[in-house]
Amino acid sequence: MKTIKLGIAGLGHVGCGLIELVNLQAALRLPGRVEISGVSARTKTRNRRVDTSSYHWFDDAAALAADPDIDVFVELIGGSDGPAKLAVEAALRAGKPVVTANKALIAMHGSGLEKLAQANDVDLMFEAAVAGGVPIVRVLRDSLSGISVQRVTGILNGTCNYLTTQMLETGRSYGEVLDEAQRLGYAEADPTLDVSGMDAAHKAAILASIAFTADLDFDKVSVRGVDTIELLDLVLADRLGLRIKLITEGLATKAGIICRIAPMALPLHHPLAQVDGALNTVRVEGDPLGAVTLTGPGAGAGPTASAVMGDVAKLFTPTARSPFGRAAHHKVRQFVAADQTERSAFFLRVKLADRPGALASLTEALAAHGVSVDKLLQDSADDTGAAPVAIVSHVCSRGDIDAAAAKVAALNTIIGAPQVIPIDLAY
Ligand SMILES: NC(=O)c1ccc[n+]([C@@H]2O[C@H](COP(=O)([O-])OP(=O)(O)OC[C@H]3O[C@@H](n4cnc5c(N)ncnc54)[C@H](OP(=O)(O)O)[C@@H]3O)[C@@H](O)[C@H]2O)c1
Repeated sequence: MKTIKLGIAGLGHVGCGLIELVNLQAALRLPGRVEISGVSARTKTRNRRVDTSSYHWFDDAAALAADPDIDVFVELIGGSDGPAKLAVEAALRAGKPVVTANKALIAMHGSGLEKLAQANDVDLMFEAAVAGGVPIVRVLRDSLSGISVQRVTGILNGTCNYLTTQMLETGRSYGEVLDEAQRLGYAEADPTLDVSGMDAAHKAAILASIAFTADLDFDKVSVRGVDTIELLDLVLADRLGLRIKLITEGLATKAGIICRIAPMALPLHHPLAQVDGALNTVRVEGDPLGAVTLTGPGAGAGPTASAVMGDVAKLFTPTARSPFGRAAHHKVRQFVAADQTERSAFFLRVKLADRPGALASLTEALAAHGVSVDKLLQDSADDTGAAPVAIVSHVCSRGDIDAAAAKVAALNTIIGAPQVIPIDLAY
């Protein structure tokens, strides 16, 4: 039976989860035997939930990566630069296949690392980097290589999805639910990477690069998170038959590949509208398939380690295939920035001062930019004198709705900033 010897750098949530899986491998369906040869982390003396004392310890992850005694280097440190990048590069240069869960590293440096892997004729695998335990990377790269992809949408940040789901279900504010999520360990102590949309953006850019054979250019990705979403937005949208979620999107257009992450309002029968809590989901649409949707746990030690182990299992028969599924005869496409001419219906929420004519001034400001109202909901003023109004617009351009929202924001009958969220009607 073939044996693969791992060098594991990073012994945190996922690293320890992987060691647990290695110890339980009799219950798995691996093609051969997996052993751990060496490990590396920041602090040797740290108490960990698994015993690592029998493995050769390396203070320097890059030294472990190039160690002749390992067959595969597993990078579970994290971060787009610094020790993770140095160690992955060292492994590839030493001709060792690499498995990583590091979305930031792949999103920021995927193209360069792909070249290094190809130059050294080794595999670079990152199934766990996108949607944790949901097997989408190799499904998209390999199993779906027979379709021409038009659109990839997803919910790729469990923390954001948990926040919006819990706010609506329990009627609590963004801050209250975030505090609780941090206490329960669902959100990081510093949740910025998640709530700003950046974590989801890393994953979406990787998927778009694979789906559309596109050079991964993270600077072109447009990113908006959930940090400006209020409970009021979720409640009013719900009453209009819409669910607001942080949605990732990769889209093939004539100009190039658009990749964006933003809150979107989904009709309740939309395939992603019912994906609640910390789940992740990815929907791939293309010809001649139609659409396929995968849903499951997008994070957590066990699910993420299982994706890492799936990559290790694949390495029993190395392919040295391009990590992004590219071949020399493929036409490589480019990421382009999302432009203002794109058309959609929009959910617009404002708080009106409780004064005569306030509603008329709102609809006039919208009409001045060609934005017409499909549905309108107005609530009574609260004790601060602000009356919430939610509008579903007819289809208009992003440029028009943004210009209209700016005009609305300048009205003296408006309290606070208007909220503008595109409605996804294209599915
Ligand atoms: N957690 C998840 O659910 C999840 C899901 C999908 C993907 N991922 C990705 O998986 C990776 C690991 O995440 P995690 O949650 O396991 O992180 P974590 O719990 O913070 O663990 C990070 C590990 O890296 C070690 N480390 C830090 N600096 C190092 C260095 N210079 N050399 C060697 N090791 C170093 C730390 O050592 P010490 O323990 O000694 O401090 C720690 O063991 C990240 O790329 C993350 O984005 C995580």
